[in-house]
Formats: sequence, structure tokens, C-alpha cells
Amino acid sequence: MDLDQILAVTLSGVRPEEAPAVKRLVADCDLPTADLTDEKLRHFIVARKGDVVVGTVGVELFPPQALLRSLAVEEAYRGQGIASKLLQAAERYARMMGATQLVLLTLTAEDYFSRYEYLTIKRSDAPASLEATEEFKTLCPDTAVCMRKQIA
Ligand SMILES: CC(C)(COP(=O)(O)OP(=O)(O)OC[C@H]1O[C@@H](n2cnc3c(N)ncnc32)[C@H](O)[C@@H]1OP(=O)(O)O)[C@@H](O)C(=O)NCCC(=O)NCCS
Repeated sequence: MDLDQILAVTLSGVRPEEAPAVKRLVADCDLPTADLTDEKLRHFIVARKGDVVVGTVGVELFPPQALLRSLAVEEAYRGQGIASKLLQAAERYARMMGATQLVLLTLTAEDYFSRYEYLTIKRSDAPASLEATEEFKTLCPDTAVCMRKQIA
């Protein structure tokens, strides 16, 4: 029996011992990890099958704005709606923390985010608070697409 098939996906914050697995997953998905401190991981959500980390997403909070980042799902677990669950949880969390707008940068997933009502904007139109993040300043190339969603 393939145990994975009967295990539900659960979401929660990152347990301290999971930090290396979260960083490895984000790196395996070719997303930036250079600035991923424990403090930033406090605002990350993980998806688990049993005890195994299979997905993650993070927010950086600058209420009323927030940066959505590091949406990543282990290749073997894609296509099961895990990213969709993570995205909805990140939106709920950001809203609870006082954000009314989420902004992201992506090189590969513009079409994915547009399914969830993220609109493409000019990077220069992103809120100034987010331009100070490492993603905007150094980690994401100019070719990255900037997107925005009103969440409240
Ligand atoms: C993008 C990603 C998180 C989606 O994870 P997932 O759990 O498979 O997503 P879901 O199950 O919610 O959705 C699957 C659907 O999205 C589509 N999809 C997946 N990645 C996509 C992408 N990059 N662009 C457009 N559509 C995409 C799939 O084809 C599938 O379509 P279908 O429902 O019509 O069959 C995953 O592919 C990933 O980790 N990619 C590498 C990292 C990345 O690019 N992250 C986003 C930038 S921050």
C-alpha cells in the first residue's frame, strides 16, 4: 500500500527542526533562500503528508502590504491542490496580520497566480515598503513579473 495515498495534507507553521527541509525545498524549486532567516520562517506555512514537508509558502509583512514568496511544492506531490491550499492559507494569514494587499515576484508562475486573481503590475508600481525587501533589491532579477492582489 502506498501510505501517501491515505494521509491527509496538513498545514501549520514551521517547526524549528523543519527549517532545513523548508530551505532545501525552496532551493530545489530554484527560488531564493539567501535571506531565509529563522525570523522570516516564523511567517512561513508548511504542508505536510504525515511528518514529511511537501510544500511551503511565506509572507513578509509590511501592513497594509505583504510580500508573498517561496510558494513551492515537492515535485512528486504537485497537481494535488497543495499549492492552492497554501496560497489560501497565506492570504488568510496576511489578512489576519493586517495586510490588505499581497505582492509577489515570479519568473515562472504568472499564469498560476493569475488563476487566483493576482494581477500583473509594473515592478515600479509596487509599494515602496516592498522595494526594500531582499527579493526586490537583490534576489529576483528584473525579468521577474510583479503581481498584486487585494485581499481585504
Ligand atoms: C507552482 C507550484 C507551487 C504549483 O504547485 P501544485 O501543488 O502542483 O499546484 P496546484 O495543485 O494548486 O495546481 C496545479 C495546477 O496548476 C498548474 N501549474 C502548476 N505550475 C504552474 C505554473 N508555473 N504556471 C502555470 N500553471 C501551473 C498545473 O498545470 C495544474 O493545472 P490543472 O489544475 O489545470 O491541472 C509548483 O509547480 C512549484 O513548486 N513550482 C516551482 C516553484 C515555483 O515556480 N513557485 C512559484 C513562484 S513563487
